[in-house]
Amino acid sequence: MEKKRSGVLTNVASLFTLLFLFMTFPTHEAETLRPREVNDEKSTLKTYIVHVKNPGRRVSDQMEDLDSLYRSLMPVSRNFMKNESHIVYTYSNVITGFAARLTAEEAKAMEENKWVLFVRPDMSLSLHTTHSPNFLGLHQGVGFWKQSNLGKGVIIGVLDSGISSDHPSFSDKGVPPPPAKWKGKCEYEGVTCNNKLIGARTFQNSRGHTVVVDSMPPQYEEGHGTHVSSIAAGNFVNGANVLGNAKGTAAGVAPLAHLAIYKVCSVEGCAESDILAAFDAALEDGVDVISISLGDQPVESFLSDIIAIGAFSAIQRGIFVSSSAGNIGPFNHTVQNTAPWVLTVGASTTDRLIKATARLGMGEEFDGESLFQPTNFKPTILRPLVYAGAIASSPFCSPGTLTKAHLKGEVVLCEGGGEFEGISRGEQVKEAGGSAMILMNDELDGYTTLAEEHVLPATYVSHAAGLKIKSYIDSASQPMATILFKGTVIGKSHAPMVSSFSSRGPNLASPGILKPDVIGPGVDILAAWSPFGSNSSLSSKFFMFSGTSVSCAHLSGIGALLKSSHPNWSPAAIKSAIMTTADVLNLEGRPIVDHKMAPANIFATGAGHVNPSKANDPGLVYDIKPNDYIRYLCALNYTDTAVQVITRRTVECSEVKSIPEAQLNYPALSVVLGSRRQTFTRTVTNVGLPNSSYSVKVVSPKGVSVSLSPDKLIFTKLNQKKTYSVTLSRADSSLDAGEEFAVGYLKWVSDSGRYSVRSPIAVVFVGLGA
Ligand SMILES: *[C@@H]1O[C@H](CO)[C@@H](O)[C@H](O)[C@H]1NC(C)=O
Ligand SMILES: *[C@@H]1O[C@H](CO)[C@@H](O)[C@H](O)[C@H]1NC(C)=O
Ligand SMILES: *[C@@H]1O[C@H](CO)[C@@H](O)[C@H](O)[C@H]1NC(C)=O
Ligand SMILES: *[C@@H]1O[C@H](CO)[C@@H](O)[C@H](O)[C@H]1NC(C)=O
Ligand SMILES: *[C@@H]1O[C@H](CO)[C@@H](O)[C@H](O)[C@H]1NC(C)=O
Repeated sequence: MEKKRSGVLTNVASLFTLLFLFMTFPTHEAETLRPREVNDEKSTLKTYIVHVKNPGRRVSDQMEDLDSLYRSLMPVSRNFMKNESHIVYTYSNVITGFAARLTAEEAKAMEENKWVLFVRPDMSLSLHTTHSPNFLGLHQGVGFWKQSNLGKGVIIGVLDSGISSDHPSFSDKGVPPPPAKWKGKCEYEGVTCNNKLIGARTFQNSRGHTVVVDSMPPQYEEGHGTHVSSIAAGNFVNGANVLGNAKGTAAGVAPLAHLAIYKVCSVEGCAESDILAAFDAALEDGVDVISISLGDQPVESFLSDIIAIGAFSAIQRGIFVSSSAGNIGPFNHTVQNTAPWVLTVGASTTDRLIKATARLGMGEEFDGESLFQPTNFKPTILRPLVYAGAIASSPFCSPGTLTKAHLKGEVVLCEGGGEFEGISRGEQVKEAGGSAMILMNDELDGYTTLAEEHVLPATYVSHAAGLKIKSYIDSASQPMATILFKGTVIGKSHAPMVSSFSSRGPNLASPGILKPDVIGPGVDILAAWSPFGSNSSLSSKFFMFSGTSVSCAHLSGIGALLKSSHPNWSPAAIKSAIMTTADVLNLEGRPIVDHKMAPANIFATGAGHVNPSKANDPGLVYDIKPNDYIRYLCALNYTDTAVQVITRRTVECSEVKSIPEAQLNYPALSVVLGSRRQTFTRTVTNVGLPNSSYSVKVVSPKGVSVSLSPDKLIFTKLNQKKTYSVTLSRADSSLDAGEEFAVGYLKWVSDSGRYSVRSPIAVVFVGLGA
């Protein structure tokens, strides 16, 4: 939902405050209870998700029997209030269990019951958003868009803040009716369905027991859901633009795919019990892809990851799940939604820039960005340039700090950082009498700047540019500046560049699985916006937005295209195709850089930047069977109960052959390496040409020796599988234990030269004693 890290953090903090305040004050049951009890009830009732032991086929086939089992688990007093019990949802596809309103004591007592596996308090997550299809190499009438029929016949389920259905991006022009298997519903007040938008449902603790109170009417959509839906599968709209910029035909990544919308978020947040209910419904309805751009903080166990749990049931049905990595980068260990069965997507720039150049008195120029491109601002007139820190109590142009500045048309250099949006800083400068603003990035965000809808002539420049402008102000006797507005420019250098806010690995819950998996377009992406949205003042129906939500939505669309051209590929095969063909070089042919212009770390990029056309024809894929994930969870030392909560299977880990993390047939290799050498196997499936042979190319991580056996793979049929082993050992013991890591890759290259199947290798060193 937020563009920047600071926004996310404040949002999450306030959200938990709200959650705390509201979820303890249900009003629903009040009238049926005696006043004293009401008060006691009021202060303690909360929603809990109750995971129940799978009672076996005989009972689970009978939903009525399951219902009576669930009711029997409820405290007696909760069963006979008002019309019925305090059960909020019963789940049938994602977990065995239900959500109910209970006191903490009741929840604890319930955990003692032999039928109950685990009781979790309902938590709240937050939302983590067109030129980009072209940037991704998708063009009308040719190539992958042609081969995939633009996603025709594929259904993308979007779990988000809803949709503004009358937007032209959701027209069904050229979209066929939904496939026969579709069982979804259109029951979202204020939303009209058609062949594009084939389902719309709301999950807001539907029986009125809200965890996060939504003060808005159900049709209210703040913009996020509309934006991500249109990126994944918006139809072609001619003449899209924002404030006259970035004009062109807007299109989603899979323009002819169907959309099914599951509203799980309100302006205050997204309750886990609702998210789980939406997964449950989406599975029943028959979606092919799930797009989910929600999260909170990284977790150490998938047991605390409701998206991992919902997604596990989804992938068992062949549904591809794309999720966002989170917006709390550039710090390490911030990546979210890291289960190996979901695709985790980080955010990078495209080559489009809404350019605004700061020109200094000396003639020196610094390129920056602004969505607001005034035509009545005379660029030839130089104006006095002042540094906010010199005229105000704070250099940040934060609210209240410029009130005594009494400006007379100066250009003000404001520092970035802190919790304020760039736009609000501009408002301060304008109110104080400034004529223009140069907003310099803080050091943390470096070169990640955004095109924003400023209220005055402004440009947002990098930290490095800002430092130079600052030193000019310090040294010149009469510092002067102006801003040149250059409109939409294609050819931004260093694209794709990893954005500062994109969450980074390593993966806290499973260090042996490299995350994020890939990066995709997530900065300044033009897409549909809701008229209810916070920026409804915009005359256009489109808006530019940034975040890993946006990049996740691109990958949901790409997943739909791949489902369309390869209906038999498993979710793991689709992930593999995307990862092994990802680009590691930018448009200029150099290694992808990060927000500091330094070569991007593997924990920022994962396998690299998605290349959809190559993903459509990867040559080989690394497939994974759902049961393998169960063996993988056993190797992570999860208890039998935890494995059952996540997978719904009754498992005795001591009886199954476990699969250590790095041994899972993942398309990347992430290894914690001590003094002992380690060997892993991988199995590839031929999806390229029937008769083909591959040779391996290895770039060993520094200080590691890597050997493969065999180093040649020969295929004679399609879908033939070949297994190879890869052994890693320390080649250089001089590297210290601790923070040190090294990266390399292995690549199977077909002798015909047509295919190149690349797997990154990340090695974290631990003490030689280990
Ligand atoms: C409870 O009863 C009220 C009033 O009769 C009705 O409007 C409501 O839908 C009922 N709720 C449930 C969960 O049956
Ligand atoms: C993240 O970890 C890497 C490798 O240990 C290190 O080089 C980098 O400085 C860390 N980044 C941050 C922001 O701490
Ligand atoms: C919408 O505009 C307001 C004020 O101009 C700004 O504070 C807010 O961040 C914008 N919303 C989004 C989603 O960009
Ligand atoms: C699981 O437990 C075993 C035995 O204690 C230990 O050797 C192994 O490292 C643990 N695995 C993980 C992933 O923590
Ligand atoms: C693959 O090669 C084998 C042996 O050389 C040959 O018999 C077979 O016809 C070839 N298959 C295809 C599809 O070219």
